[in-house]
Amino acid sequence: MNDNETTAHGESGALAPAGGDGALETRSTTELDRFENPGLPPHVHRAADDDPKAAKRAEKQVATLFGLSMLSTLVFLVGYFAIHDDWVFFFPGLGQAKTLNVVLGLSLGFALFFIGIGAVHWAKTLMSDEEVVEERHPLGSSEVERAKAVKVVTDGGESAQINRRPLLKYSLGGALGLFALPFVLQVAGSLGPGNVEELKETLWDPKYNDGKPIRLFRDPERTPIKLSDVTLGSVFHVMPETMEKVYEEGKHVLEQKAKAAVILIRLNPDDIKVQKAKDWGVDGTVAYSKICTHVGCAVGLYEQQTHHLLCPCHQSTFDLTEDCAVIFGPAKRALPQLKITVDDEGYLVAPQGFKEPVGPSFWERAR
Ligand code: FES
Repeated sequence: MNDNETTAHGESGALAPAGGDGALETRSTTELDRFENPGLPPHVHRAADDDPKAAKRAEKQVATLFGLSMLSTLVFLVGYFAIHDDWVFFFPGLGQAKTLNVVLGLSLGFALFFIGIGAVHWAKTLMSDEEVVEERHPLGSSEVERAKAVKVVTDGGESAQINRRPLLKYSLGGALGLFALPFVLQVAGSLGPGNVEELKETLWDPKYNDGKPIRLFRDPERTPIKLSDVTLGSVFHVMPETMEKVYEEGKHVLEQKAKAAVILIRLNPDDIKVQKAKDWGVDGTVAYSKICTHVGCAVGLYEQQTHHLLCPCHQSTFDLTEDCAVIFGPAKRALPQLKITVDDEGYLVAPQGFKEPVGPSFWERAR
C-alpha cells in the first residue's frame, strides 16, 4: 500500500470499522487491492510559475479587473447623485424603467462581477495550483495542529503573493473598499419610511385640480369613464385625470401612478353590507386603492362570485361586500375606499381624496 492509499483509506482500510469484524476488514482490503492507485497527475507549470514577465503580466491583468470594478463603483456613485429620480429609460418592446435603477443596478453588478473574475484570474494564474494530499486525522486539534493551521494560512497568503505584490493588495483593497460604499449610502440615505406626509398624499386630492372633483380615467387608455360604461361585475383599472399633467411634466410619473392606482368594480348594491361603502359608491359601483396594505403589491384578482379581491403576492384577500375588510392573509388593514359620484355629464368623479394613507400599514403606524 503506498502513501496515497494510506491517505484515502487509513492504515487498515477505511471500510473496516475500528476493532470490528475481521471478515469485513479482509474483504475491504482485498477489494481495494484490485484497483491501482493512479496517484496524482504530474504538476504542469503555468507560464507565470516560471516566467517573471508572464507573472507581471498576469498581475497587471488582475489589477486591471479590480480597476474596472472601482470604475463601475464610481459610476454607481456618480449615478446615485447625478441622475434625477424622474428620468426614465425606454427598452424597446419591454416598456420603461427608471434610469436611476438601471444605472445603479448595472454598475453595482459590474463592480461585483469584476472583483469576482479578478479573483478567479488571480487564482488561476498566480496562486499556487499544486495539488496536495491532506491526511486524515482525528477531529479536535491539538496546540501543535492549531499552530500548523496558522502556518497554513500564513503560507497561503505567501502563496497568493499578496505581500510580494503590493499592486494587487492595494487594487483589491480599493475595489472592495469602494464596493462597500454604495451599501453604506443605501443604508444611510435610502431606507426607512422617508417623508410619510408625501406618501399619504395622492393625486386624487382635489387641490391638484383647482379644488374641483377629479374624473376617473381608464388606465392605460387614459379616457374618462361614465357610470353607464360600468356594467355589473366589471372591473376597471383607474387613474385620476390629474395624472395627465404629471405625464406632460414627466416628473415622478411612476411614484404618482403607484400611489394613485385604483380598482373600480360594480356590484349589486344589495350585496354591499357596509353603509359607508354604499354611500361612497354609486349604484353599487365602488372604488378602492389598488395598493395592498401588506407590503404594497397591486391587488388585481377579482373573484366575481365571492366578491373577493386577492393580492397575488401573499394571498391577502379583501371582501368587497365588507368595505374591503381583510378576510385572509398577512394584510392588517382594509383597502382604503375612494369616494366617487357622477358629474353633470355622467362621468364618474372623485369629490375628495383618500381619507387614510394608501399602501402598506407601516405608513399608518408612522403617523
Ligand atoms: S403585498 Fe399583498 S399580501 Fe403581501
